[in-house]
Amino acid sequence: MTEQIAEHYERVAATYNDHWTYDPDYVRQLAHAMSDALRLTRSDAIADIGCGTGLYTRHIADDVRPTRPVLCVDPVSAMLDQLPRSPALQPLHASAEDLASGRVALPESAPLDAMIIKESIHHMTDRRGTLEGLVRLLSRHGRILVVMLPTAIHHPLFRAAHERFEELQPDPADIQEIVSAAGLRASVSQRTFHVAIERERYVRMLEARYMSVLGEFSDEELEEGIAQFRRSYRDTPVLRFEDHFAFVKGWVPGRPPA
Ligand SMILES: C[S@@+](CC[C@H](N)C(=O)[O-])C[C@H]1O[C@@H](n2cnc3c(N)ncnc32)[C@H](O)[C@@H]1O
Repeated sequence: MTEQIAEHYERVAATYNDHWTYDPDYVRQLAHAMSDALRLTRSDAIADIGCGTGLYTRHIADDVRPTRPVLCVDPVSAMLDQLPRSPALQPLHASAEDLASGRVALPESAPLDAMIIKESIHHMTDRRGTLEGLVRLLSRHGRILVVMLPTAIHHPLFRAAHERFEELQPDPADIQEIVSAAGLRASVSQRTFHVAIERERYVRMLEARYMSVLGEFSDEELEEGIAQFRRSYRDTPVLRFEDHFAFVKGWVPGRPPA
């Protein structure tokens, strides 16, 4: 992880969850879609890699009620500090690369049945090596779910933010190929969530750099981008857009697809 990314998440950690409270169902539905896609069961050993504040992990734990705590892995302590203290969630301060390389061992040193990687794959620099290493930590029932944005998005960002996003975002098809090359059966599908959000609230989210791509801009550039956004949406008090997510699933061959 670069220093810039670490600083970005240290800065946004305290307010990260607030950005998603405009629609309480959004987080719940997306969390449910993830546990459903992985067909999680109570007996699964589950890890959320790049769990952040555990915004989604806590819903998944509530949904599934696994007998062992969900392992919540993140390299930024400020994000992990926001994790609710709960016997259902076990924090682990580490990056995906730390786990994949064995620099940090799994606490129970037992294999994992399910791994969730939601919106953190784009921060991993050696995606092939890291995913290969993570796949080696799976049990014979193992499956993995990478949840990521597609290469182009409908969020009402300003033009430079869209352009930078498109430069940085990996292609879900490439992630599927990497998962498959790591020895898993793999598939990719799409989930769509309809978002309605007040323009002024969205301005506050832009100001708070709610997406990591916004951390790529200086204060002046962000201000200019927000001015451009305001001009584009001056007649739109409520913004409506579709939020598409790619679900890249991988499962150990022989196990029926989730
Ligand atoms: C966009 S946030 C997503 C957090 C959470 N999964 C969610 O959806 O709310 C990205 C998270 O990835 C973490 N991250 C950055 N680099 C990482 C890496 N190399 N390995 C694992 N996590 C990483 C960040 O600290 C941050 O918490």
